[in-house]
Amino acid sequence: MKPPSRPELFDFEGVSMIHYFTDNWEKVKNFQARPDDILIATYPKAGTTWVSYILDLLYFGNDAPERQTSQPIYTRVPFLESCFKVIPSGTELADNLPTSPRLIKTHLPVQLVPKSFWEQNSRIVYVARNAKDNAVSYFHFDRMNMGEPEPGDWNTFLQTFIDGKKVFGSWFDHVNGWWEKKQTYSNLLYMFYEDLVEDTGHEVANLCSFLGLSTSVEQKEKITKGVQFDAMKQNKMTNYSTVPVMDFKISPFMRKGKVGDWKSHFTVAQNEQFDEVYKQKMKNTTVKFRTEI
Ligand code: A3P
Repeated sequence: MKPPSRPELFDFEGVSMIHYFTDNWEKVKNFQARPDDILIATYPKAGTTWVSYILDLLYFGNDAPERQTSQPIYTRVPFLESCFKVIPSGTELADNLPTSPRLIKTHLPVQLVPKSFWEQNSRIVYVARNAKDNAVSYFHFDRMNMGEPEPGDWNTFLQTFIDGKKVFGSWFDHVNGWWEKKQTYSNLLYMFYEDLVEDTGHEVANLCSFLGLSTSVEQKEKITKGVQFDAMKQNKMTNYSTVPVMDFKISPFMRKGKVGDWKSHFTVAQNEQFDEVYKQKMKNTTVKFRTEI
């Protein structure tokens, strides 16, 4: 059987997109958020699944055990703008979530987020990851995920990443747009993947205080342990092994989970060029990233 063809990138309201995330746009745009919804927003490959799982455990970890053993994380935390046809759309899944609060994932840049989230003053957790590791992770994801555009070789991928020609647009615009929003919207927690790797327990506690949760110390410790890379890699409900369009023989979803893996991908020349571009594109922002810990 011929493998399904990969989607093409096109411009959607000034952002590079593929049809899986725009086919349901009217419903996405008009999505009705609730005041107690929690939106998990990220540029792809910044640690979305990690934070989704932490939040799911914080809210529902003590519920019926079937939730943790039989429902993959992507059905517990619907991907708002997704419209993959083989499963219900993100808006449909979110509308039918039986739980409260609803945990909802998005990769949308801030200007495309449905306006009801702002009107309802919903809480938002944004996770950002340094550009170099984010690019490497995205490259391997596009290699193994047939639902993504063809990545080309690493050098080609890196150039298009720099140019913002990736699904959900430019990394620079994404992290900067959300950082700017944080200055005026107080219900937004801006987290960093590097902090999560360095001290997961600290970030779990930080999430609890942002969300107003009085989770016990023991519970927080248990969650911190359960969300470590190796545990999530072994866990079929969090490692995406149930998704047919992903070819783990090319690269697993839970790939390395490291800060600094970019060093084994960037050549000296690529790194110099990237640092130059980075300086330019980040010159008007105060957000600071760590490329090593
Ligand atoms: P790598 O490809 O660098 O390994 P997303 O969920 O946004 O798609 O992000 C996926 C990236 O987060 C992958 O990065 C994955 O390994 C990493 N990740 C997921 N869970 C993690 C964890 N518990 N600890 C460290 N990294 C994790």
